[in-house]
Amino acid sequence: MTKHVYSTRRIPEVCFKQLRDAGYEVDISEKDGVLTREELLLALRAKPYDAVISLLTDTIDGEVFDAVPSAKIFANYAVGFNNIDLEAAQKRGITITNTPGVLTDTVAEHTIALLLSLSARIAEGDRFVRENRYEGWAPMMFLGTDLKGKILGILGAGRIGVQVGHIASHGLGMSLIYYDVKQNKEFEETYGASFRPCVEDVLKEADVVTVHVPLLDSTHHLLNKGRLSLMKPHAYLVNSSRGPVIDEQALVEALQGGVIKGAALDVYEHEPVLTPGLKELPNTVLTPHIASATEEARGKMSEIVAEDIITFFNGGVPKNIV
Ligand code: GLV
Ligand code: GLV
Repeated sequence: MTKHVYSTRRIPEVCFKQLRDAGYEVDISEKDGVLTREELLLALRAKPYDAVISLLTDTIDGEVFDAVPSAKIFANYAVGFNNIDLEAAQKRGITITNTPGVLTDTVAEHTIALLLSLSARIAEGDRFVRENRYEGWAPMMFLGTDLKGKILGILGAGRIGVQVGHIASHGLGMSLIYYDVKQNKEFEETYGASFRPCVEDVLKEADVVTVHVPLLDSTHHLLNKGRLSLMKPHAYLVNSSRGPVIDEQALVEALQGGVIKGAALDVYEHEPVLTPGLKELPNTVLTPHIASATEEARGKMSEIVAEDIITFFNGGVPKNIV
């Protein structure tokens, strides 16, 4: 029997090609945007789909699963899966997959780019030049901060956190401290990273803090007003994980009040809406959730989605079950 797959949005073509080559029928949402709840439910009720490709911008919960009870696998086109109610999936025996690994280097590179944009004041300088305010070299203009020899504090030493540590230590000569719920001995041995038993210790010591935790109940507002106040006044904060890990209102206040020196963010608490004040701060670098957005990574994520769906229906175990 031909398997039917629904994709909530167009992703790189390779996924759909692989599925069709394998004999699957694929329907892709024609809307160039996030489906509203009603549109999503309506689309899923249209056919007895066997599989659904979802995005991090889709909230997938019990009601969504029940709209398409024939679908036994939801393949999430993202490494993060906080948009999916895993308990509801488990109750219904639905398999959930994600796309880890292939975007690790990409997200790590973007994270370092965010950091360098802050420390070397790239984004600010770029705006300055474009606004025709550059009137010649000056000895004290746009003084930035060297990273060499500084302490990078990594919150979350999974694949991405470790790769950020790799670039920062080998490429920039930073020393590494980290916190994770699980101590990562290999990270310590390979990069001389030093474990701290709590988030607070990292915040107090680091010159730069970079966040690489998944969004869970336990990491929601991991960085709140109290914790931000532990950071050094010259410290930078970088976040390419998930917005709600930081209390964005508290961050805006910390930046306004000089509690920390700057922040570079790729993700936001109420995406795509930004907390008032954030955009006006000169000491922020802001990108629109594009840390994994390279041709290479998005292409490989697309392949993985197809491979996992095909493996599943061939009776195998998909590589990336969450
Ligand atoms: C992007 O944010 C992802 O989770 O893949
Ligand atoms: C995600 O790939 C992570 O483990 O950091």
